[in-house]
Amino acid sequence: MRVGQGGSGPGAHTPDGSAIEMYEQAEANGEDEFIDKAIDPKSSILELGCGTGRITRPLLARGHQVVAVDESAEMIARIPETETIQSTIGELRLDRQFDVVLMMSYLINVADDAERLRLLETCAHHVRPGGSVLIQQQLPTQLAEPVVLEREHSRMEISDVEHLPGNKVAATITHTRNGRTWSQQLLTQNLTEEHLTGQLTEAGLQLAEYLTPDTSWVRARPI
Ligand SMILES: C[S@@+](CC[C@H](N)C(=O)[O-])C[C@H]1O[C@@H](n2cnc3c(N)ncnc32)[C@H](O)[C@@H]1O
Repeated sequence: MRVGQGGSGPGAHTPDGSAIEMYEQAEANGEDEFIDKAIDPKSSILELGCGTGRITRPLLARGHQVVAVDESAEMIARIPETETIQSTIGELRLDRQFDVVLMMSYLINVADDAERLRLLETCAHHVRPGGSVLIQQQLPTQLAEPVVLEREHSRMEISDVEHLPGNKVAATITHTRNGRTWSQQLLTQNLTEEHLTGQLTEAGLQLAEYLTPDTSWVRARPI
């Protein structure tokens, strides 16, 4: 497990504390439709941190070509439908470029500037000239306070919220699905626009636009 990250509950967990069996049960929640509208038809996509393919599969079904990357062999074993690569994002260096590099699930909010830069450098390395890097970032409102969200077959609780210097936030997120419970300890860092644009530039990217008014989805392009 990485510093500040850990997970507990049934089955195996990835180094960032994600529970494989929990993600296996999870379904897309409109993200694939949103991404599809933001990119060209039949795009080649490099998806970083793909997990069990929750978003990979619907993007494939929409006609895109997806190469799915995750450091967890157990995660990518769940995606036989397409090419998968087991690698940390920071170390990935393929000899190929893609129309779109997708890095969602708040991976950009890792609470370490050097690691975040490595993630962005990987994005920059793999996007073709004129292509898009789509990033989903955490908003300061998201882990701001304890909260419980109940749905018909699932429950999500945010607890142990601790606001730390440098816009960092530690919290525990507990999911219950069909009577089974998983907890994940998170250490995240919210990014100001200045912080984000500075690191994008350092990686050879520029902020092209926010794809949502709340700024949670960012499109960056190679400089
Ligand atoms: C929270 S899960 C989300 C998976 C998927 N994006 C989704 O939305 O269903 C995060 C995934 O990213 C992977 N991951 C996190 N940091 C990573 C890194 N530095 N390199 C490679 N994979 C990473 C984890 O192994 C995990 O499968």
